[in-house]
Amino acid sequence: MKKQVCNHNTIFKAVILAIVPAVLGWGAVALSNPTQTLDLDRFIDPETCAGCHYEIFEQWSNSMHNLAHKDPVYNRVANFLRQGLFDQAEIDEAESCVKCHTPVGVITGFPEKLSDDLSKTPAIAAHGIQCDYCHSAVDVQKMFNNGLVLEPGYGEDDPGIKHGPFDDAEPDFHEAAYSPLHESAEFCGTCHDVKHVTFGTDLETTYTEWKNSPYNSDDPDERITCQGCHMYQRPGVPATATTERPENPGSAADYSMERPHIFTHYFVGANSGVPASFGDSEKPDMAKARLQHAANLDLDLSNLDKNQLGIIVSNTGAGHSLPTGLADMRQMWLEVIIQDKNGTRIFETGILDDKKELPENTLIYRTVFGDGKGNPVLNLAKAREVLHDNRIPAKGQAKEMITLDRALEKGSEIQVRLLYRSMPQKVLNLLPGEPLGPLPVVEMVRTSHTL
Ligand code: HEC
Ligand code: HEC
Ligand code: HEC
Ligand code: HEC
Ligand code: HEC
Repeated sequence: MKKQVCNHNTIFKAVILAIVPAVLGWGAVALSNPTQTLDLDRFIDPETCAGCHYEIFEQWSNSMHNLAHKDPVYNRVANFLRQGLFDQAEIDEAESCVKCHTPVGVITGFPEKLSDDLSKTPAIAAHGIQCDYCHSAVDVQKMFNNGLVLEPGYGEDDPGIKHGPFDDAEPDFHEAAYSPLHESAEFCGTCHDVKHVTFGTDLETTYTEWKNSPYNSDDPDERITCQGCHMYQRPGVPATATTERPENPGSAADYSMERPHIFTHYFVGANSGVPASFGDSEKPDMAKARLQHAANLDLDLSNLDKNQLGIIVSNTGAGHSLPTGLADMRQMWLEVIIQDKNGTRIFETGILDDKKELPENTLIYRTVFGDGKGNPVLNLAKAREVLHDNRIPAKGQAKEMITLDRALEKGSEIQVRLLYRSMPQKVLNLLPGEPLGPLPVVEMVRTSHTL
């Protein structure tokens, strides 16, 4: 059973709207503006929810949802990308970030754009993607750039209805209602698909990747939604497609009834550096566990007589492409080292240099944006096309062939590692001000073979 939470007509119109003005050169589109405006005092601080939902609050604290507005990597990269733009269409994109990173702020009127004085962001909005934002959602208006429609209450005196997975909850503080929307991938997908506000270029496509994957199956045994992996994870339970995803029995509030499954709220992806920089010790390990149960590496030695080494990378654990999200920045790459029988290195690729940068010839799985004329651009505000995407789809494989300049003799050793980091050091090195990084490099999987 798949519930259709969005009206296809609206989506279709929205897409047309996004593309036509770019062609006609109109600049800003209604798409980038909030469609709803609400008073700030309608939202309740997460600390108040913590009064009864303490465990859930603790899990969410220092998650990338909680940190979305404060995240220093996001802030510094976003401000850097905003610099030096003159084309209004590009400026509109560079200003649009707050719509997802500070959603309570945008819907309540401040900030409206990235270049507003973000230090004046109201305290509640600075908590990022939070309890009362998600649990006030009643509809999805478009499937990208945050199309959630909210119906919050009127603050603590009249908290209104909180929407969630139970059809029999009777809390005394707030009202409760069962919401199929919250069980759907569409609920997550409206923010986890990002399009350029004027050019319509696909900047992030996590939801679409999932939608086109075998996990979006009609067979309940095969079907896994975003929540099915990301809201089952807890310390010791990576909850990827290669591991068990056992239920998490417990109670939703401090004194409420025992239930077979309480959805966890760690919202861990692959980011370990940012939660660590806020003093979190649990989430960095959970991000590593997730990455270490995402992929397989196999060697194909059948063409070694022709000096060809085959490497097969399989996406076994992720419900979307590997890597996903901000795929122009995320770096997942192959490190290959071959030594002869005396231990002398005769081939290497993917080794970080002194500046922690990767050599040009490294095999990186990622997307590259273009300026519309086939030239690569670093700044997503200038992204008029996707030039390149060699990421590995869910349950898919990438087969690489490395040509060696000599035959490998007996006793030679081949070592291959699949590595991940959230941001190229080259980009971090461009940022003005205090140096940022180096960000952690996580070994996802390794394999080796001695001839
Ligand atoms: C990104 C959106 C999001 C945020 C932020 C969020 N939740 Fe949830 N929450 C969900 C979803 C989605 C579910 C249900 C998942 C399902 O049914 O598949 C859920 C379930 C719940 C439930 C039902 C019990 C359970 O966990 O299964 C409670 C209670 C709850 N959330 C409270 C909170 C509180 C308190 C906070 C803040 C500390 C919070 N949520 C933050 C999306 C969110
Ligand atoms: C005074 C205690 C209390 C406070 C404060 C509180 N809740 Fe609850 N909430 C509960 C109880 C009790 C339940 C019912 C749990 C159950 O039935 O398993 C509940 C259930 C929920 C559910 C599940 C609803 C459903 O039908 O699936 C959500 C979502 C939720 N709360 C969100 C919030 C949010 C967001 C806040 C802060 C704005 C909050 N709660 C504040 C006590 C509280
Ligand atoms: C079958 C399990 C599974 C499902 C289903 C799944 N994910 Fe993931 N997700 C993973 C794994 C494993 C990783 C870590 C590897 C990676 O970064 O892709 C991950 C990583 C992520 C990341 C961080 C990516 C990065 O590299 O920065 C985001 C964001 C994310 N998932 C969102 C989603 C959303 C949204 C959905 C639903 C549309 C979803 N996931 C469905 C398993 C899953
Ligand atoms: C209101 C928009 C919004 C909604 C709704 C939303 N997300 Fe997110 N999510 C974000 C943003 C923005 C970030 C990145 C924050 C950052 O990195 O600074 C993020 C980050 C994440 C990450 C961490 C990625 C990493 O690199 O570690 C995961 C996992 C994730 N979301 C999963 C989900 C799931 C599952 C749902 C649905 C239950 C969901 N999100 C709903 C906006 C949203
Ligand atoms: C439609 C929602 C949305 C909008 C708009 C949006 N983002 Fe994000 N952003 C996300 C999500 C979801 C993630 C997490 C993806 C992942 O983990 O790879 C993210 C993650 C990031 C990160 C990674 C942070 C880290 O700690 O690694 C950066 C940087 C970033 N966004 C920059 C921007 C900039 C700059 C803009 C505006 C030009 C912007 N975002 C607009 C949804 C959005």
